Amino acid sequence: MASFLDNFLGKQSSSVIGIDIGSSSIKVVQLRKKGAQALLETYGELSLGPYAGVSVGQATNLPPEKIIQALQDLLAEKEVNVTTNLAGIAIPYSSSLMTVIEMPTVSQRELITMIPIEARKYIPVPISEVSLDWSIIPKNKEESLPEDGTATDTTNMPPLQKKQMQDILLVAIHNDTLARYTDIATKNNLRTSFFEIELFSTMRSVLDQVTTPVMIFDMGAATTKLFIVERGILRTSYTINRGSQSITSAIAKSFGIEMDKAEVMKRQFGLTDTTPDGLNVARIIQLTLDFLFTEANRAILNYEKKYNKSISKVLLVGGGSSLKGLEPVAQKNFQTEVLGGNPFSKVITPAFLDEVLKQTGPQFAVALGLALRRLQELE
Ligand SMILES: Nc1ncnc2c1ncn2[C@@H]1O[C@H](COP(=O)(O)OP(=O)(O)OP(=O)(O)O)[C@@H](O)[C@H]1O
Ligand SMILES: [Mg+2]
Repeated sequence: MASFLDNFLGKQSSSVIGIDIGSSSIKVVQLRKKGAQALLETYGELSLGPYAGVSVGQATNLPPEKIIQALQDLLAEKEVNVTTNLAGIAIPYSSSLMTVIEMPTVSQRELITMIPIEARKYIPVPISEVSLDWSIIPKNKEESLPEDGTATDTTNMPPLQKKQMQDILLVAIHNDTLARYTDIATKNNLRTSFFEIELFSTMRSVLDQVTTPVMIFDMGAATTKLFIVERGILRTSYTINRGSQSITSAIAKSFGIEMDKAEVMKRQFGLTDTTPDGLNVARIIQLTLDFLFTEANRAILNYEKKYNKSISKVLLVGGGSSLKGLEPVAQKNFQTEVLGGNPFSKVITPAFLDEVLKQTGPQFAVALGLALRRLQELE
């Protein structure tokens, strides 16, 4: 394996890393090409709690210098043994603004001038302060969306009456955010070719070729991100200001214990029946879950009503979804297939790691998706 120094001496590495700077921890995944496939070389995580004086598993809001330091520590971690500086980095969903806008069906050239003007209606800061990106959401053959959003069949209408509108996914990132991430990367001598909003990285790592709508449920520390993807295209997204850390605080409050103890309890018992000293941990966890599931069901219902289609499955990702016993409980709630996202199944991994990767996998969905994209760029 090439040494970390080789990269700085200009030797081209065939390995790449994906870096996900979450609110509670930084995750890194290193991949290498093996024929047409990707091989997992290493992966690792570093909790940010200790850098902010809070316990492991809690969300932080660190200044850039501390993030730079933490990332440096993770990249230098001997056990993780990262050996390349070719990287892709995620931008948190919360630092982006995403919306679907409706535009007339005009040429790409016209859209290029029209979209920034239209975007002003949706973006609360001057357009010059953000980087805009957009993509056309291709229409289903059988689907046509009138302005009120209800799907109706217009195939028998005369051509002139057909709505000549198209949906555009508009994405904006504040230039300050991009500058901050560029700084984090350069201060760590990383050769970063892209920054990607975390949802897109997750989509790459956990979705297969399904054409029916799928909901991805990413339970992080501070927030839970919900997004619905259809035919590989992001259709709608939400963020809920509660995550796995909310469960920890609820346990800590209910039992009058410290956050670090509550964190251990959450991970150890989860939703299982085994409870320490007759304490009902599952019941407390369930309260936060009920809130999240209600929100998720509302999002599902909205989508199903608007597009007249049902969500075919829910994929659970994020560290919070490693909660013991979550899958069957979620299954009951969603009344549709629920699966733990397993990003590592997209890459070649050593067989002896199978069980571990299945458990920790959901937490690395973003980092793995980034590494996959960076790898494609090596060609
Ligand atoms: N086995 C487990 N059981 C329950 N919760 C867990 C387990 N492992 C990790 N968690 C929780 O998952 C959360 C971290 O998940 P993740 O790493 O996806 O979040 P993040 O990316 O740092 O946060 P965010 O996406 O909100 O910025 C922590 O709150 C942690 O307590
Ligand atoms: Mg996250």
